[in-house]
Amino acid sequence: MKILEPITVKNVTFKNRVTIAPSHPYGYGPGPDHTFSDDNIDYYRRRLKNQNIGLLITQRMQVQSRDAGRGNFALISQDQKEKLKVLVDAAHENGTKIFAQIGFPSTGHHRHESVDFWRREDLKAIEEMHVHSARLAKEAGCDGVEIHGCNMFFLNLFNSPITNHRIDEYGGNLEGRLKLSENIIKGIKEFADDNFLIDYRMGWNSDLQTDIETAKKLEEFGIDIFHISYGVRESDRYMPFDFNPVIAYPGTTREKQIVPADYPYGDVVYTGAQIKKNLSIPVILVDEIWTYERGEKLLENGDGDFIAYSRPFMADPDFSTKSEVNPGYSNCLKCVECAWFSDFHKCPRVLQRGFDKA
Ligand SMILES: Cc1cc2nc3c(=O)[nH]c(=O)nc-3n(C[C@H](O)[C@H](O)[C@H](O)COP(=O)(O)O)c2cc1C
Ligand code: SF4
Repeated sequence: MKILEPITVKNVTFKNRVTIAPSHPYGYGPGPDHTFSDDNIDYYRRRLKNQNIGLLITQRMQVQSRDAGRGNFALISQDQKEKLKVLVDAAHENGTKIFAQIGFPSTGHHRHESVDFWRREDLKAIEEMHVHSARLAKEAGCDGVEIHGCNMFFLNLFNSPITNHRIDEYGGNLEGRLKLSENIIKGIKEFADDNFLIDYRMGWNSDLQTDIETAKKLEEFGIDIFHISYGVRESDRYMPFDFNPVIAYPGTTREKQIVPADYPYGDVVYTGAQIKKNLSIPVILVDEIWTYERGEKLLENGDGDFIAYSRPFMADPDFSTKSEVNPGYSNCLKCVECAWFSDFHKCPRVLQRGFDKA
């Protein structure tokens, strides 16, 4: 199966294309000072020990401590770096490459925040915060960094004409809206080498054509891998939020989707596949792919290069091993509200099998 074939990007070889999507398992609190807690590291270790996962992208780590609440992790200090290193070592011991996902705090998908009030000097500082966290990720031994530009969080709001109405250099047109991302990417490129990749997780920003243009610009700025996710809700695509009513907005209806009715995947995969046709760098696809079989079809079609799974790995720590035996394997019950957004102990699969221990 292609999903089990290796892939090399620059100097980094991934043993296969199976990816653990960045996912914060709520219920595992952070350790002191927003470091990774031992339990949270154990959560990953339990999955990694199957030794058949190509890439782990960590849950989002904040580049600044504001709003680090709700169990959030940060990657700002040496202590935080040292704890990340424990996770990096666990990944490498099991032959898995690891990217640290970094992002600036915002209320994200809970409501729109205006980005128009940010002062130029604040934005310069925010650029530097991203670059600093990426540098710590490299020092911790990560194989790359993933810039969080999706899911209606901070950079997604900056990139979108729906939420960015600025008239200065950080708005006005596509180049302006992407200025923040451009400066962050270029700042990281100053120390990134062929062993440290830059991956950008982009949420959709407005219409599909604008999203394709945005992705092309990100490639031009020098990212090595493109990862798709959902984005700003007023776009022409449907948000896959059955799993979290907090972000299931009224007004987001199936009617406005541009994805053909018989397309066997959701709008996130569709968007990623359309963007892939316009890029020459590898693309990570995610969202409701559920099984290796469905991931394999996307790879065979040339719609993407890596296949990421979030809830399947939450529902079963041995998802990858069972899928190798049975590519149609799926254990997630696709609950209307995924318990992992609040307390994983309530996930019916965790209730069945008990607490995950490495
Ligand atoms: C509990 C939970 C936490 C998540 N945390 C993050 C996160 O930290 N960063 C991120 O970019 N996406 C996050 N996501 C989104 C996932 O990466 C993924 O895009 C989404 O779950 C769809 O993939 P799936 O259908 O395989 O679950 C999270 C998803 C879940 C269910
Ligand atoms: S079984 Fe339900 S709670 Fe558990 S991971 Fe799947 S959607 Fe989330």
